[in-house]
Amino acid sequence: MHLRTTAALTAAFISTTLFLLLLPIPTVNAHNITRILANFPEFSTFNHYLTITHLADEINNRQTITVCAVNNAGMSDLLHKHLSLSTIKNVLSLHVLLDYFGAKKLHQITNRTTLTATMFQATGTATGSSGLVNITDLKGGKVGLSTDDSVVTESSVFVKSVREIPYSISVIQISRMLPSAEAEAPTPEPADVNITSLMSAHGCKDFAEALLASKAMSSFADNINGGLSVFCVIDNAFRQFLLSPRYKNLTVGEKQSLLEYHGVPVYQSKAMLRSNNGATNTLATDGASKYDFIVQNDGQDVTVKTGVVTAKIVGTLIDQQPLVIFTIDKVLLPKELFKGAGSPAPAPAPEAHAPKADSPKASKNKSKNKEKHVDTPAPASSEAPADSPDDYSEDLEADSDGAVEIKGFRFAALVCMFNYLVV
Ligand SMILES: *[C@@H]1O[C@H](CO)[C@@H](O)[C@H](O)[C@H]1NC(C)=O
Ligand SMILES: *[C@@H]1O[C@H](CO)[C@@H](O)[C@H](O)[C@H]1NC(C)=O
Ligand SMILES: *[C@@H]1O[C@H](CO)[C@@H](O)[C@H](O)[C@H]1NC(C)=O
Ligand SMILES: *[C@@H]1O[C@H](CO)[C@@H](O)[C@H](O)[C@H]1NC(C)=O
Ligand SMILES: *[C@@H]1O[C@H](CO)[C@@H](O)[C@H](O)[C@H]1NC(C)=O
Ligand SMILES: *[C@@H]1O[C@H](CO)[C@@H](O)[C@H](O)[C@H]1NC(C)=O
Repeated sequence: MHLRTTAALTAAFISTTLFLLLLPIPTVNAHNITRILANFPEFSTFNHYLTITHLADEINNRQTITVCAVNNAGMSDLLHKHLSLSTIKNVLSLHVLLDYFGAKKLHQITNRTTLTATMFQATGTATGSSGLVNITDLKGGKVGLSTDDSVVTESSVFVKSVREIPYSISVIQISRMLPSAEAEAPTPEPADVNITSLMSAHGCKDFAEALLASKAMSSFADNINGGLSVFCVIDNAFRQFLLSPRYKNLTVGEKQSLLEYHGVPVYQSKAMLRSNNGATNTLATDGASKYDFIVQNDGQDVTVKTGVVTAKIVGTLIDQQPLVIFTIDKVLLPKELFKGAGSPAPAPAPEAHAPKADSPKASKNKSKNKEKHVDTPAPASSEAPADSPDDYSEDLEADSDGAVEIKGFRFAALVCMFNYLVV
């Protein structure tokens, strides 16, 4: 009896575990807005702007959404306003509703009216209710869409359904852009953003001060206009590191490289990182010195693996093309400075080092952003680095990375295993 109960419980536990493990997998792009709209030339301008603002990546990363597209004539009204690209992004993000509205649901709205959240509101740029869209079932079967801060007469109406993938994405055409003073307000130019005071004000004071005291600051400043992603370290983690002998032992030049290692000279939003896993060069990269790291998803999280440590993105201070600043929970320790230092020959897995030098992953020089998924072995395998999980398995100190690594590895191994079971 006991045995049977235990067995049942174990079975229940295993199936729950498998179910939980399965969850992250279906989130791999179920839809591709670029491809959907490519079939409709009348939305080519709208589609183009979704791509260059990188909203397409955000849309592809979400489930249960509605994209309200306007045709090329509607877009040219917007473009005549000569807004900056980041303002256009705000306006377009107001046209992405964070709920699924197919044609049928639009005509069956409870009490004939509803307010729905949008991607603009989700960015935090919007204040108050300005990121909300009011959908109202008007008389005569018409459905009107408007924003709170717009004049009612300017409301846009539902024209037709373009594509519906139930529970995933609905693309509808609306008669005109949704007017919103707030979304159209000019955004500060990224070059005018003082990145260090932004960091200081949001929990990365020590990192900001280290940057201000180093020549690395100019590498960051010089790259803002051309595209820059910064991974700044939260105060607790960075302060501890500053006090450690590992940091104190570095030369001035090495300290500069270490800081530059926290910047990537291209704009990569979190959604882009998530769909574009792989090796990435940094501001510290130059000819002989690789100073690259691996970006890899861990469920819904995005991690950065240096080969010495694995850090996780824990927040976003600004995401305004061409500048994005993330906060991370650990200092990124480049192999170039920390490999082997202080931890001679990690005992448990000596073979971990052998395949490293010539493993396929070592061909990191094709890191220049785009064709990254090419070298991941299996399709949709961003969760499971089956070929070299050991790549990043050891850590220098007991600053709790050990536990995280092991968990991450087990998780990956289980997912792999389960993939085999399913296939
Ligand atoms: C979406 O489709 C476009 C056009 O076919 C393609 O260039 C792009 O890589 C696709 N995006 C993803 C994430 O698959
Ligand atoms: C719809 O209207 C009725 C009556 O005014 C109200 O009781 C109900 O809460 C409303 N439902 C929603 C979802 O707003
Ligand atoms: C939406 O706007 C209409 C017209 O201004 C208004 O009557 C309605 O109450 C609004 N709906 C909601 C949910 O605020
Ligand atoms: C940014 O702010 C810091 C103070 O946090 C100041 O020292 C620095 O000079 C400012 N940088 C620019 C470019 O204005
Ligand atoms: C720092 O340098 C000292 C003196 O050179 C050395 O004894 C110590 O092992 C070094 N510590 C680390 C963590 O590299
Ligand atoms: C990448 O590596 C190959 C072979 O080692 C080499 O021929 C090629 O020039 C390298 N490319 C870059 C961009 O460093």
